[in-house]
Amino acid sequence: MAIPVTALLLFIACLHGALGAVHPHKPLITSIFSFGDSYADTGNFIRLAAPSTPTIPFNNSPYGETFFGHPTGRASDGRLVLDFIADALGLPFVPPYLAKDDHDFSFSEGSNFAVIGATALNLSYFLEQNITSVPPFNSSLSVQLGWFEQLKPRLCNSTRQGCDCYLGRSLFFMGEFGGNDYVFFLAANKTVEQTRAFVPAVVNAIADGVERLIQHGAKRIVVPGSIPMGCAPIILTLYASPNVWDYDSYGCLRKMNGLARHHNTLLRRQVQALRNRHPRKTIVFADYYRPVLAFLQKPAVFGFDGSSPLVECCGAGGDKYNYNATAVCGLPGATACADPSGAVNWDGIHLTEAAYREIAKAWLRGPLAQPPILLSKLV
Ligand SMILES: *[C@@H]1O[C@H](CO)[C@@H](O)[C@H](O)[C@H]1NC(C)=O
Ligand SMILES: *[C@@H]1O[C@H](CO)[C@@H](O)[C@H](O)[C@H]1NC(C)=O
Ligand SMILES: *[C@@H]1O[C@H](CO)[C@@H](O)[C@H](O)[C@H]1NC(C)=O
Ligand SMILES: *[C@@H]1O[C@H](CO)[C@@H](O)[C@H](O)[C@H]1NC(C)=O
Ligand SMILES: *[C@@H]1O[C@H](CO)[C@@H](O)[C@H](O)[C@H]1NC(C)=O
Ligand SMILES: *[C@@H]1O[C@H](CO)[C@@H](O)[C@H](O)[C@H]1NC(C)=O
Repeated sequence: MAIPVTALLLFIACLHGALGAVHPHKPLITSIFSFGDSYADTGNFIRLAAPSTPTIPFNNSPYGETFFGHPTGRASDGRLVLDFIADALGLPFVPPYLAKDDHDFSFSEGSNFAVIGATALNLSYFLEQNITSVPPFNSSLSVQLGWFEQLKPRLCNSTRQGCDCYLGRSLFFMGEFGGNDYVFFLAANKTVEQTRAFVPAVVNAIADGVERLIQHGAKRIVVPGSIPMGCAPIILTLYASPNVWDYDSYGCLRKMNGLARHHNTLLRRQVQALRNRHPRKTIVFADYYRPVLAFLQKPAVFGFDGSSPLVECCGAGGDKYNYNATAVCGLPGATACADPSGAVNWDGIHLTEAAYREIAKAWLRGPLAQPPILLSKLV
């Protein structure tokens, strides 16, 4: 009786993985699957939008200028945290799932389902709340999981063992999610206090997503938290206050940062609950909040321009932060600063490659990911 070659290869791959476990500091990760929003999208949004949208800022120069030399659909001047982590693990940049029709992708080393503007909550959730300022596409966390479930049969054998082996050697990213949910509640004129009431629903949706990945066989999942929203130039511009007491010592909006911290507190609790329920899985909480504050507190340590850490690099001369809603980065009138590596913020919302590189370092080796992606007991 002939043993199917693919089954044999999978068996060898698992054995190889087991041997890799001898080196506890070099986890053997053979693929990466990523879910999230614009902090992780490597090209899905531009493919979703292309048929209906004549001008997609993210698909225009100067996006991508620092590393790729052209726009790739990443909302930055270059690589994202996900790109640096893939690189550190010896894997290729995680290809966007919606490129499946462009080429004959196998996605055997991973796939990225993240979409710019994506929310943790279902689109229907917002519509039921009569909130009409919603993402242009139905691309929420649960839709992204649906894409993963469609792809799964092509990734690993339908026999339980095959998928356990393959997905057990994968690294999953569930997020960042939440930032867009809150932006849409705020855009519907809900107060920050009213928006806080939705935080439990948002973190539950994220935790449910992690649970669903575990049911599929995921063993290592990174769950990124929220950035300090109140330090983002777009938020600082849209929600500017005449009251100096509304700003903290970094010049960020206190209430907005309070919202982000509340999200992070509840999300950490959910991550702990998931760990208690699944003690044999590695569930990493990855901090996006503290590193951004550290950039603002000690810009020079990280090579950032200390005179204007809250000013975005690519914009059209808004009031104070270079954010101009009528000429956002990627549209005529907006230009990039001379040295993006000296800026923390790229376009008012997203960070520069330089900032993402620092965050990736701290997630890989600690201390901003618990446990650190590289040093955790990833066996
Ligand atoms: C979102 O929709 C999916 C089905 O598309 C459903 O299974 C899930 O429970 C919904 N989540 C929430 C939080 O409503
Ligand atoms: C979004 O897509 C999901 C999955 O395809 C579908 O179940 C849901 O009804 C859609 N929601 C809206 C509001 O169109
Ligand atoms: C949404 O609007 C409809 C119709 O105006 C109303 O009946 C419903 O109570 C509203 N829902 C919420 C959550 O405000
Ligand atoms: C799963 O196994 C069957 C037969 O054992 C094989 O034909 C198929 O290609 C395998 N699928 C994958 C994704 O390896
Ligand atoms: C929010 O409030 C502003 C100012 O009062 C108003 O112009 C705008 O139409 C409101 N937006 C929504 C979605 O209610
Ligand atoms: C915003 O951009 C528009 C279009 O380029 C420009 O006319 C306007 O002066 C800018 N606003 C500020 C405050 O710089």
